[in-house]
Amino acid sequence: MLEIRGLRHDYAGRTVLSVPSWDVAKGDASLVLGPSGSGKTTLLNAIAGLATPTAGSIRVAGTEVTGLAPAARDAFRARHVGLVLQTLHLIGVVSVRENLRLAQRLAGSPVDDARIDEVLASLGIAGLGGARAGNISVGEAQRVAIARAVVNRPSLILADEPTSALDDANCAKALALLLDQAAACGATLLVATHDNRIRGRFERRLEL
Ligand SMILES: Nc1ncnc2c1ncn2[C@@H]1O[C@H](COP(=O)(O)OP(=O)(O)OP(=O)(O)O)[C@@H](O)[C@H]1O
Ligand SMILES: [Mg+2]
Repeated sequence: MLEIRGLRHDYAGRTVLSVPSWDVAKGDASLVLGPSGSGKTTLLNAIAGLATPTAGSIRVAGTEVTGLAPAARDAFRARHVGLVLQTLHLIGVVSVRENLRLAQRLAGSPVDDARIDEVLASLGIAGLGGARAGNISVGEAQRVAIARAVVNRPSLILADEPTSALDDANCAKALALLLDQAAACGATLLVATHDNRIRGRFERRLEL
């Protein structure tokens, strides 16, 4: 599902990321580990097509992401990739439901409120659809960000430090939600973290 070959990313002539070869099978859950500055976010951004690597290739579900023109990359991401970024980037001035509808529109799908209700319910926030996204708690916002990442049933979910700001109880909850939602979509899940509490939950790891 994910094939990386000869990947390298340089900033100002300094190599910050090097992944000679890495394969992740469809439906697997893998952890990307490494200390601060080891290139975890750089790797996730490259896989999502948010940044172009200096060298190498990344194939997601058979598509060479690194070979797509910018507009095609954006369309590919909207349709196939669910992103949970460390800063959640919800649109605070509109409702939770509008945040999810926007994700559907960006993927080129018709608005599907039944799907939105289903995802919110599965994350235990069925009552939040009408709430202004800027007025919900941090834990709720994290669930909304996960809802937005999975609403289009992505084939790949990328989560960057989804638990590092959370206490132990919420860390366990957020992780369980991500794993459950990935399983429900049949999606491949990559979680980048330096949070040692969640190491044991993943059999497959890439150490940077
Ligand atoms: N836009 C940029 N310009 C120059 N250097 C950058 C840029 N973005 C990241 N870097 C550098 O690249 C390296 C890898 O950064 P990256 O954000 O991928 O690390 P990380 O493993 O995600 O770290 P953290 O755990 O702190 O989030 C760091 O040394 C960082 O300073
Ligand atoms: Mg990072």
